[in-house]
Formats: sequence, structure tokens, C-alpha cells
Amino acid sequence: MKAKIYLETHGCQMNVADSTRATKRLSSEGFQFVQSYDDADIVILNTCSIRARAESKVFNRLGQINHNTIGKAKIYGVMGCVAQLEGEELFRRSTMLDFVCGTGAIDRLPSLVSRILSGERKVLDTGQRLSNENWDLQPADHDTNHTAFVPIIEGCNKFCSYCIVPFSRGREISRPAVEIIKEVTNLRDSGFKEVQLIGQNVNSYRPKTNEGLEEFAGATPFIRLLKAVAATGTNRIKFTTSFPRDFHAGIVEAMNEYQNLCNWVHLPVQSGSDVILKAMRRGYKSADYLDKVAAIHNSHRNVALTTDIIVGFPGENEDDFTSTLDLLKQCNFHGAYIFKYSERPGTRAANMDDDVADEVKTERFQQVENLQREVQIKIYGSYIGTKQMVLVKGISARSEADVFGHSTCNKVINFKGGTDLVGRVVEVKVVAAKHNSLYGELAH
Ligand code: SAH
Ligand code: SF4
Ligand code: F3S
Repeated sequence: MKAKIYLETHGCQMNVADSTRATKRLSSEGFQFVQSYDDADIVILNTCSIRARAESKVFNRLGQINHNTIGKAKIYGVMGCVAQLEGEELFRRSTMLDFVCGTGAIDRLPSLVSRILSGERKVLDTGQRLSNENWDLQPADHDTNHTAFVPIIEGCNKFCSYCIVPFSRGREISRPAVEIIKEVTNLRDSGFKEVQLIGQNVNSYRPKTNEGLEEFAGATPFIRLLKAVAATGTNRIKFTTSFPRDFHAGIVEAMNEYQNLCNWVHLPVQSGSDVILKAMRRGYKSADYLDKVAAIHNSHRNVALTTDIIVGFPGENEDDFTSTLDLLKQCNFHGAYIFKYSERPGTRAANMDDDVADEVKTERFQQVENLQREVQIKIYGSYIGTKQMVLVKGISARSEADVFGHSTCNKVINFKGGTDLVGRVVEVKVVAAKHNSLYGELAH
């Protein structure tokens, strides 16, 4: 019998998609996947390096698993962004490791594992993704069959000064549109209700040819792709993350035209200060960002806008920070992921003085959090009395009598119901709101 594998995924949706892809590749070679590392012969961690804490988590987790599995001859591997960045060095830092598989090597994972099983040790592949690779990763052996992540672009060319992603993921490669449309069509036919087009910056999508997009008009290939994907008739289509500089009005127009393009946009602003945005090398000023927001808010649909904020970037003073708070007040974000700046080795910002004290970062983090909570209490409250279409995802963590799901505007909605509803799209009337979730009743 083939070896059993336990795969644990950290990080963003790209890592989730990569894990699905690895699972598919390894399953087709006969490997079985198990839910606990105790039951596994091979333990793999898919890792994230976006902030220092994400990276230290990898080493803590490896230490913990190693400690709990002493004497049970297992094989240990690391894949993902930490694997790509650290490479060979990982074998020195974690002597228990048998293999390291970089972000471009996922399709070669079965052969890496076979080499280990035939006795090789310390196997490393941080080579590039092959350009003729098949990106297809559905349907894989995973427990949800209603929502699928579909990668459309990999890597990043933006080199924001603080960010490790261009180093851990390499340059942008766009997937051919025909392949994406085929995959989305297959997902629709197999009953998937929601597709999320994913990439570090989906709207920077630039395939080598327009094949598959010929019938669809639009100023950029991404706009044309959105329309082509919407035209498959898939129930719900979401896309993330959007890069502000590449966010053109045609995206909002496409959303106005196709109702199955969901009314949610994630558009990370990072800061409201032009001085800081410049130091971050984001390529836009706060006024440019506000123009994009105005275009989104002018849509006749009620589009939920969410964002990411970094506090305490090198050189951020009180005025800069106040500009961020002001921008937040103007934008009415339905959600914000807030991060304290974390220095990443090898980035441009690592040469700057990380001069905002940790207490100040924490204080600013809390101020953004508090302000955002107030904004969200109002926004979430405004949904009371409305009806929302909810894709039911599972039993609620809070109460066994409730299920939870997501609205088209990506809000979590809990309501009374059983597992028979999981995977279905149902109409729910909102009756109560917290600052980050809604409570409703099944509408009849
Ligand atoms: N491509 C997306 C972001 C991907 S990374 C974009 O450009 O908008 C996800 C988020 O992590 C970023 O939006 C940023 O807010 C945060 N982040 C990235 N590097 C960071 C760092 N060094 N310190 C703190 N937060 C960081
Ligand atoms: Fe990182 Fe900037 Fe690329 Fe986003 S656009 S992944 S923040 S370098
Ligand atoms: Fe983390 Fe890599 Fe994603 S660094 S956020 S897993 S691209």
C-alpha cells in the first residue's frame, strides 16, 4: 500500500489552491490523505512567509509535530513560500526535514516523494514552474464541493517595498483564458455553486493570447475574462485580490452587466498617506484610490468593499497615520485586515529603519480596529431586514442548531438549519447583526 500523507496548509488562498493541486497530483499516484499527522507516514507543511510571525509558526509547528511523533519513523517535508525562500537552509534549521518543495515545484512533488521513499534524503526542488504546465486542479479530493478556488495568475511583479511575495512566488504568469473557462465550466457542470478567481493581483491578468476572450469586449484582459467566466452561467463568481492601480472602471461595468459576478471587491489600500504609499512603492496616491472607491460606490449594485492596512511602516508619523484613519472614514469598508509592519529580509524596506516602536504599532493597530468596528457596526446593521442569497458552507462553530454561509457580498450569515442545507444557495432574511457577522432566518 502507498504511504499515507498528512498535509497542513498555512497562508493565503494561493497556498490553499497549491495544496489542492498537490493533493490531486499525489492522489493520482495512489497516495492516500489522512486528517491527522498521527496516522500519516509523510507529514507536509505548506508554509507562508508574509510576516515574521507566519514564518516562525512554521518552525514552531515543525518542532511540535516532531516532539509528538518521536520514535515513529516519519517523513517530513516543507512546501510553499518558506520552502521557496529558505531552500537548502531549511535542512540546517530543521534537521528533521527530508524534503523541501518550492512554490514552482508542486507538479514535481510526486517524484520528490518517490525519491525519498526509495531512500534518498534531503531532497530539494526550488526550481521554476514549467511554462507548459497544466494548472487544472479540480476536482480534487477535498471535502467541499460547492466552492472552488481557480488560480488565474501566479506571482507578482509589483515589488512593493515591504513585501516578500515577488521573491517567494516569482514573476507574474497568467493562465490561458481557454483553460480557465474550461475549468469553470466543468465546475459548474459538477455542481459547484461558487468559483473564486484567485491570484496575488487578479486584475493584472495578462495572458499570452486572447484565445477564449474574442467575444468579450473590455479595456483589459481581466475585464474580458470576468465577462467570459460570467457567461458560463456559474451561480456565483468572486475574485480576489485586486490591485488598486490596475482597478479599471470596466470591472465595475462588468459587475453591473453580469449579476453572477458577486458584489464584493477586496482592494488593499495599505495606507492613507501619500508619503508612505510612495515609500511602499504602491504606484498610486490616496486620491487615486478614492477615485476607484467612488467608481465602485457609484455602481447601481450594493458592492461591499474590503481592504488591507499596514500600520507602522518605516517613517510613519502621526500625520501619516491620521491620513489612514481619515481614508478609512471616507471609504466605508465592510471589512479590513490590519497588519503591523513586519520587516522581511531581502525586501527594499528591510534597508529602511524599522523606526516605529512596537507599542506604537500596537496602539495604531487598535485605533484602526476600533474605528473599523464602529464603521462596520453601522454597515452590518443596515443589512437587518434585507434578504440575502447565502451559500451554506457548514454547521456554525457557535451553535450546533445553526448553519453558516456566505452572502454574495462575502458576509458570514448564521441561521437555524441542518446539514441538509450545506452546499445549497438559499434566501435568508437578516434579523440581527454584529460587527462582522449577520444572523438571519430562512426565508420561505
Ligand atoms: N497582492 C495584494 C496583497 C497580498 S499580501 C496587494 O498588493 O494588495 C496580503 C497582505 O499582507 C497585504 O495586503 C499587506 O497588507 C500584508 N503584508 C504584506 N507584507 C507585509 C509586511 N511585510 N508586513 C505587514 N503586512 C504585510
Ligand atoms: Fe506584495 Fe505588492 Fe505584490 Fe501585493 S502587489 S503581492 S503587496 S508586492
Ligand atoms: Fe503567504 Fe506566500 Fe500567500 S507568503 S500570503 S502563502 S503568497
